Amino acid sequence: MYKNVSIEDVAGKLVEQLKKGAFLTVKSQDKVNVMTIAWGTVGYIWQKYIFITLVRQSRYTFELIERATSFTISLPLNGQLKEALSFCGTRSGREVDKFDKCGLSLLPAEKVDTPVIDGCDLYLECQTIYKLPMQPELLPEQLKKSFYSNDDYHVLYFGEIVTARMKE
Ligand SMILES: Cc1cc2nc3c(=O)[nH]c(=O)nc-3n(C[C@H](O)[C@H](O)[C@H](O)COP(=O)(O)O)c2cc1C
Repeated sequence: MYKNVSIEDVAGKLVEQLKKGAFLTVKSQDKVNVMTIAWGTVGYIWQKYIFITLVRQSRYTFELIERATSFTISLPLNGQLKEALSFCGTRSGREVDKFDKCGLSLLPAEKVDTPVIDGCDLYLECQTIYKLPMQPELLPEQLKKSFYSNDDYHVLYFGEIVTARMKE
């Protein structure tokens, strides 16, 4: 059973797990893909709770999220699905069906079109309301050198968190 939770109540756990890995699921028409993320921000903007996910332009996920209106974040908080997090963070949905290979099942979300990953403890359902491609010229040289030597910059997608659900 899952219950709706407030962002204030789960923000700490969310960030703690995010650093270890979470599933970002995207859907465009009949195509669904999942990739592991570790970077993201949860906060409050425009009088809404927002999750910002950062997706590099080389990802298959980028192709889909560009055409989508929502995304979901699925977080396993108890050490489960570690192998799947690793696989989905190293293999592309362009070449392999990650759901099939990892034995991951999709569950419908409550309020958005994009499904969530079965077996996780915390789900965020996000309606995409803004996006922001990184501007390399605004980035300190040190960060450019450390994270963008191949010019594969992130696009930031701002999702209004329309539902947050936690396993009871
Ligand atoms: C722990 C971990 C965290 C990651 N975080 C991100 C991230 O926040 N943004 C991103 O663009 N890629 C991130 N990646 C890399 C993607 O998950 C990886 O390139 C994936 O294979 C892309 O899949 P796709 O081509 O199916 O979209 C991460 C990988 C790992 C292992």
